[in-house]
Amino acid sequence: MTAPAALETRGLTRRFGGFAAVDGVSLALAPGSRHALIGPNGAGKTTLVNLLTGAIRPGAGAVLLEGRDVTALPQHLRVKRGLARTFQINQLFPDLAPIEAVTLALAEREGLTARWWRPVRAHRALAEEAAALLARLRFAPAEMAAPTRDLAYGRQRLLEIALALALKPRVLLLDEPAAGVPPEESREVLEAVAALPRAVTVLLIEHDMDLVFRFAERITVLAQGRVLAEGTPEAVARDPRVREVYLGEAAAHA
Ligand SMILES: Nc1ncnc2c1ncn2[C@@H]1O[C@H](COP(=O)(O)OP(=O)(O)OP(=O)(O)O)[C@@H](O)[C@H]1O
Ligand SMILES: [Mg+2]
Repeated sequence: MTAPAALETRGLTRRFGGFAAVDGVSLALAPGSRHALIGPNGAGKTTLVNLLTGAIRPGAGAVLLEGRDVTALPQHLRVKRGLARTFQINQLFPDLAPIEAVTLALAEREGLTARWWRPVRAHRALAEEAAALLARLRFAPAEMAAPTRDLAYGRQRLLEIALALALKPRVLLLDEPAAGVPPEESREVLEAVAALPRAVTVLLIEHDMDLVFRFAERITVLAQGRVLAEGTPEAVARDPRVREVYLGEAAAHA
């Protein structure tokens, strides 16, 4: 028997008034894969992520996490089952150093913050784990210890990803993690994500096709709430329906 998809949707639908923002979407993320979700503005990508995390409820369809139906589960229980998304930038503490922020996040996950006493040993182990996590995302020791407000923007976005990883997810959802990051830093952000251990399945939403094609092994194209195409980057790039959506856009912007 093959392993169930890391994350799967079946006929997922969400309407706002009479308008179907997500319309019968079925997709599956292979365990350990680097999967991209692309599509024009308003295609329903963020709405789909909100349905996956449980931030909003579907009108129809199901969400399965490692083969188990989580459609009725609230957000925090999906996080407990191994589903995480990035925090928004305004949730970073500007005065904390990344090493402190990630250590706190790890402590919270272990339930250590609830105790008024905390053995120094336990704290040191968590700080070491935090440093290892940040190093995996290519933070230099000096960057780990500097106040977050002083970090380059790309590093701040990576810190958000580090905080999500502190939840020890098996599936990580990234909605435009490089948005607003200068081009010279955005490639670094996505390379660090692509290099995460394969124990983590990653779904990336990104508009920059160059970044998408570097990152993804599998691409799902959403248009007007529906899956327009799904396949390898090569197959998707050749797909005439996809070319029509994107070349149509490029022509309109030319
Ligand atoms: N809470 C809401 N109420 C009403 N309409 C909504 C709501 N959320 C999203 N929509 C609409 O649903 C459609 C899909 O929006 P969504 O944000 O999911 O698109 P997207 O693919 O993430 O776009 P972008 O690439 O611009 O981020 C849009 O037409 C949007 O206006
Ligand atoms: Mg969006």
